[in-house]
Amino acid sequence: MESTTAPVKPQFSEAAKAEIARLLTHYPDDRKKSALLPLLHIAQAEFGGWVSPKVQDLVAETLGLKPIEVYEVSSFYTMFNLKPVGKHVLEICRTGPCMLRGSDELTANLERITGAKVGETSPDGMFTLKEVECLAACGTAPIVQVREKYYEQLDSPEAVDAMLNELRNMVHRPLLPWEQTGLQHTQQ
Ligand code: FES
Repeated sequence: MESTTAPVKPQFSEAAKAEIARLLTHYPDDRKKSALLPLLHIAQAEFGGWVSPKVQDLVAETLGLKPIEVYEVSSFYTMFNLKPVGKHVLEICRTGPCMLRGSDELTANLERITGAKVGETSPDGMFTLKEVECLAACGTAPIVQVREKYYEQLDSPEAVDAMLNELRNMVHRPLLPWEQTGLQHTQQ
């Protein structure tokens, strides 16, 4: 039977609205469009770690943009997820130095252990695997970024297990951008 309930339009929380208002004070009135990237980060944190077309439409409406202007940006940057993700998004660096230090093997191990291929979410909804380019921590390659945390020197099965166990046991609430305090580094 066809549902007669209208789809719910997403809305920013009051905390997010206040942050957006504060953020927009940093931009001239005719340059609000430049706040698009931080707004997409806020939207992604607010709406479960990904930005659906409706959420992107909300961002467009908030900034007075055409939806296509938001879609063009969100689909360009790998940090924005365009489909639902698991509890933890594992961003695996695949650029030269990490590759030379075993990122291919790391990816294969993560796929085997989680049951998800790159670009997919594990059947238990715990992990989404993504490949990304250099994360600027080449000296401690190979590395995986999970939100604000870098897991480094993941060059042994034990190191991979330690990371996954820590993530499985983590009581996690996505931090909104203004709650984040910067990157943390963990060498396994
Ligand atoms: S190549 Fe992986 S952090 Fe630079």
